[in-house]
Amino acid sequence: QANDRESMYLVSDFAQKYFEDILWNSEKGKAIGLSYFKERGFTDDTIRKFGLGYSLDEWEAFTKEALDKGYSLDFLGRTGLSIIKENKQFDRFKGRVMFPIQSMSGRVLGFGGRILVNDKKAAKYLNSPESDIYHKSKVLYGIYHAKQSIAKEDNCYLVEGYTDVIQFHQRGIENVVASSGTALTPEQIRLINRLTKNITVLFDGDAAGLRASLRGIDLILEQGMNVKVCTFPEGEDPDSFAKKNAYEDLVLYLQENAKDFIQFKASLLVEEAQNDPIKKAETIRDIVQSISKIPDRIQREVYVQECSRIMDISEEVLFNTLAQLGKKNV
Ligand code: CTP
Ligand code: MN
Ligand code: MN
Ligand code: MN
Ligand code: MN
Repeated sequence: QANDRESMYLVSDFAQKYFEDILWNSEKGKAIGLSYFKERGFTDDTIRKFGLGYSLDEWEAFTKEALDKGYSLDFLGRTGLSIIKENKQFDRFKGRVMFPIQSMSGRVLGFGGRILVNDKKAAKYLNSPESDIYHKSKVLYGIYHAKQSIAKEDNCYLVEGYTDVIQFHQRGIENVVASSGTALTPEQIRLINRLTKNITVLFDGDAAGLRASLRGIDLILEQGMNVKVCTFPEGEDPDSFAKKNAYEDLVLYLQENAKDFIQFKASLLVEEAQNDPIKKAETIRDIVQSISKIPDRIQREVYVQECSRIMDISEEVLFNTLAQLGKKNV
């Protein structure tokens, strides 16, 4: 079992080097993949740092090469790099720019592959499937390159996507990881918790994702961490914003716009409820629900005071709701 995993790591490592080699040294890799990354504003150093690559738009270019080099079809299949059907084998990733996903210690666990031209028929990103070495709920993209900086800065920026992480690095902010579009999990938060107690969640500037993500943040509170959130202007995400702004302006933006999560959520809820009493009752339960996740009692009390002020609700009502929730949770 351990030996099998080792073989899967070796296959994945080979694949990373193969895709990287295609990107830099093949005609198609250079013309299609490398130009794509350059258009996104990535420098050579950045592209190399993250081991980015390109997969040829052919049926079995990678699989054939791997078999030729002696890697077994079994492990190619089990990492999801090759798809095996009726005694034939195909490459999973075809005609995509490749983002290797690394563990805390830098081993390649899997890949995200992006199509070059947005079109509604194909998924924008195709990712490696779950495997014995890749458990997406336990991985954060970028953690290997971020861990030192997270500890040093005593803060971690959490973004949605691969390119957000990469563009931040290029701008000089290295304490950043991505959940890669999936809902945040307790295991992912624990990876950060080992390095810092402070998380700043950066949301894409599309309101749709924001509401859905708020509940996931309760999981961070539950682990006793301090959470700030920061939004970007409509239509911008951390990648596009960092690309447009110099380091100093990016840092300034983050400083000025990062808000305490509970305060941010309370303000958002107030805005939504307006003068609707039923909605207002719901928002009280909602914010108290979040506060109830905070392990520290004194901190909970401070937040009750804060929210009472922001939402214009008596502290008594909030404390009573908190007590009721506490009973239910026991
Ligand atoms: N994602 C995914 N599959 C999709 C869409 C998104 O796995 N079909 C994941 C990817 O990890 C992606 C992240 O969710 O990086 C955030 O999605 P999105 O904001 O749509 O993509 P960006 O990272 O902004 O990518 P790009 O700038 O290349 O469009
Ligand atoms: Mn396992
Ligand atoms: Mn998004
Ligand atoms: Mn995005
Ligand atoms: Mn983007």
